[in-house]
Amino acid sequence: MTKARKLHIKSFGCQMNVYDARRMADTLAPHGYIETGTPEDADLVILNTCHIREKAAEKVYSELGRMRRLKEAAAAENRRVLIAVAGCVAQAEGEEIIRRAPTVDLVFGPQSYHRLPGLLARATDGRPAIDTAFSTDDKFAALAAPTAAATRARGACAFVTVQEGCDKFCTFCVVPYTRGAELSRPVEGIIAEIESLAEAGVREVTLIGQNVNAYDGTAADGRAWSLARLLQRVGQVPGVERLRYTTSHPHDMDDDLIAAHRDLPKLMPQLHLPVQSGSDRILAAMNRRHTRSDYMRIVERLRRACPALALTSDFIVGFPGETEEDFAETLGMVAEVGFSGAFSFKYSPRPGTPGAEMARQIDEAIKSDRLQRLQHAINESQAKFNRSCLGRTFDVLFERNGRHAGQLVGRSPYLQPVQANAPQSLIGEIAAVTITEIGSNSLFGTLADRAAANMRPTPTVSTLVATGV
Ligand code: SAH
Ligand code: SF4
Ligand code: F3S
Repeated sequence: MTKARKLHIKSFGCQMNVYDARRMADTLAPHGYIETGTPEDADLVILNTCHIREKAAEKVYSELGRMRRLKEAAAAENRRVLIAVAGCVAQAEGEEIIRRAPTVDLVFGPQSYHRLPGLLARATDGRPAIDTAFSTDDKFAALAAPTAAATRARGACAFVTVQEGCDKFCTFCVVPYTRGAELSRPVEGIIAEIESLAEAGVREVTLIGQNVNAYDGTAADGRAWSLARLLQRVGQVPGVERLRYTTSHPHDMDDDLIAAHRDLPKLMPQLHLPVQSGSDRILAAMNRRHTRSDYMRIVERLRRACPALALTSDFIVGFPGETEEDFAETLGMVAEVGFSGAFSFKYSPRPGTPGAEMARQIDEAIKSDRLQRLQHAINESQAKFNRSCLGRTFDVLFERNGRHAGQLVGRSPYLQPVQANAPQSLIGEIAAVTITEIGSNSLFGTLADRAAANMRPTPTVSTLVATGV
């Protein structure tokens, strides 16, 4: 019997890191590691890091300062704590991390998670261990499956990685360097994982990948499946009632995937489709492989396939060479598409990417000004979308207790948090809710008859928003 040890994983960055954290915990569980919510009582702390923008990457060093003090306090009590850095900063900076922060015992990149038990054994010797190799073995097959209890504890919604890495090389982005080339998981392993999640009570599955719609995993008969085909198969898993996928690249929105939004009733009418800029000149400099009109055409086709569809996106302001005219085109696009929400960022030059070497880098003050104006436009668009939900009846998947007694919180098909008075028995279940009030961060509603929650009526929310009603 292995001695019980405590593990604390702190994740930064995208959903892929959240998923990876779970798989790391699953892989360490058979070695006696039990998760704890605080680093103070942990024997092993893993910082699961993000390298996407400078601020994100620097966060790890301030966090490591805290870890050093924690390690010293534990040593004073004769307790050994191991500090590990995982994720995209580990992949990008490798040994540099140990040079800057000698407190670190272990550095390992996203392609090494299945080798974690062996790495830990090496680090326990007192010499730092590093593993940032891109291996060709099937990491997902080698990672341990979660126990039934661990799966149940994870609630009604689950993320499942189906694709990793990126071959697109947008000129601003580090992901192709930190996550490596595009790689799709074989179909069988994905389905087996989702079947056990559904058995443990998962009702909503989000398939994730850095370029999830480039998915082309191999099925049992040796054929390659598209994401559309995979979604259809996942929808057949007993217990799975809702499907989502993220993040998609406009270039890979193929006909079958667009048709899936028409044909798969379990596929939620919400899509995150990053555009980054509304200016063709900037899109070309970003190497995005799509123009503004390509994007608009995709939106139009998607809305024809699923009139209720709401779109969210990502934007970058202040990419090198971006003029006020280019920026005005981005603002125009927000109004034209009528996004139900969007993330927006100031361009952050990343070492090793082409964008960082480009001439005409934009002044920080200009970036801040543009970001503020863009966020104002996005907030307006989002508020308009939310207002259009008033009085509608939605299916809500309840996830947990709300702030007030008797209240539960769940998600609408559009991913909006919805609060309603509802019995505890509805946690983990889908129920119809009529929206009665629009708050700044969530919607409020009352339980209704589920037959009223039809997501495909016309006129639809997005056509109302798109036509300015
Ligand atoms: N694979 C996804 C998302 C990648 S990262 C895609 O293709 O869109 C998430 C978002 O971070 C990106 O969509 C982009 O808007 C932003 N981002 C990436 N690199 C950035 C950088 N150097 N500076 C600012 N924002 C960046
Ligand atoms: Fe980064 Fe572009 Fe790849 Fe998305 S598609 S991960 S933004 S390089
Ligand atoms: Fe960050 Fe890596 Fe995700 S850089 S956004 S954690 S893929």
